[in-house]
Amino acid sequence: MKTKKLVMIPGPTPVVRSIQEQMGRETAAFGDPDFVRDFTSLLDDLKSLWKTTGEVFVVAGTGTLGMEMAVANSLRAGDRALVVSHGYFGDRFSELCSRRGIEVDVLASEWGRIVPLEQIERALASKNYQAITVTHVDTSTGVCAPVAEIGQLLRRFPDTLYIVDGVCATAAEPEYVDDMGIDILLTGSQKAFGVPPGLAILWAGPKALARRASLGTIPDYYIDFDKWLPIMHEPAKYFATPAVNLVWALKEAVRLIKEEGLENRYARHRRTARAMQAALEALGFRVLAEADHRAVTLSNLIYPSGADDAAFRRLLAEEGVMVAGGLAAYAGRMFRLGHMGNIDAHDLVATLAAIERAAVRSGIPVELGAGLAVLQRELVRAAG
Ligand SMILES: Cc1ncc(COP(=O)(O)O)c(C=O)c1O
Repeated sequence: MKTKKLVMIPGPTPVVRSIQEQMGRETAAFGDPDFVRDFTSLLDDLKSLWKTTGEVFVVAGTGTLGMEMAVANSLRAGDRALVVSHGYFGDRFSELCSRRGIEVDVLASEWGRIVPLEQIERALASKNYQAITVTHVDTSTGVCAPVAEIGQLLRRFPDTLYIVDGVCATAAEPEYVDDMGIDILLTGSQKAFGVPPGLAILWAGPKALARRASLGTIPDYYIDFDKWLPIMHEPAKYFATPAVNLVWALKEAVRLIKEEGLENRYARHRRTARAMQAALEALGFRVLAEADHRAVTLSNLIYPSGADDAAFRRLLAEEGVMVAGGLAAYAGRMFRLGHMGNIDAHDLVATLAAIERAAVRSGIPVELGAGLAVLQRELVRAAG
């Protein structure tokens, strides 16, 4: 019999049945009053849950399109940006800005660590930056940036726009756009929302909208805020065809979030992550991110010495669980395990059990059940 495959890479994540059903619906005309009503209520929910008095955009594309949209609508050639990088995706902002003729200074941490707040503060005080970019959770390292604290610090630098990449964080890590001083938050549908890939979601606060207005006509077309704003205000209008079924799928994801409660969802992700990380450490894997700055959405696990990455991941796939490999210097030395979105105790236990089996089969010396015992204890404790 063919084994079920659990998608435990750090996005896309497992898509639950009620969201799959929205993807399978007969596609409606985007001008259909029922669809317009659904899209409008989704946009209202996204604004109120993420607490902004600004705007939200939902457009067909991926997280990278959201990054590009953030930069294109807030910076022009000759401007200066400060990029805080905790890994591969932080660095992506640097390339994206440079290609647009934006001058970039990068503050990069050693992988697994954060750039200290004092270093960010010193950099901000040393030059006039039109924007700072921060990756909330860098998927290459599993490091979670202190987004609220950086927002606090930025209150002293009101001319610097605060752009946060929430691709691997939004809907799992707390993000309150206005309260945290975030000017632009961007994400994709395929991670903690638990929706298939294909939507970019972007919140823009009042300061970001004022910056966009100050830029006049920009060279970009599809990602121009000004092209999309009339549609976000009145989805019956046309600019470019909305991804109708993905919009429904995201609406269902948001309904599930409201049913669970956003705060409960954040707490669940924290519990799940800490339980999985403790269980995997009990098996002899080392979490790359330092303890105080570990993501709740994924874990980046360094193998015990002598492990064979390719063999382990091949056998793990055979056991029914897909995980991702390490990037850059960690290729072959680490695997990346997603644990975000609409996953439950069954998924966690099945995943950890498969990891134990694949470890033993690939020659990693683990004691079968040692990780599961830790996870099970944590699950029992969480249930009260
Ligand atoms: C933190 C982060 N930013 C940006 C991206 C790019 O998103 P996408 O692959 O949806 O374009 C990713 C993708 O994994 C990511 O993890």
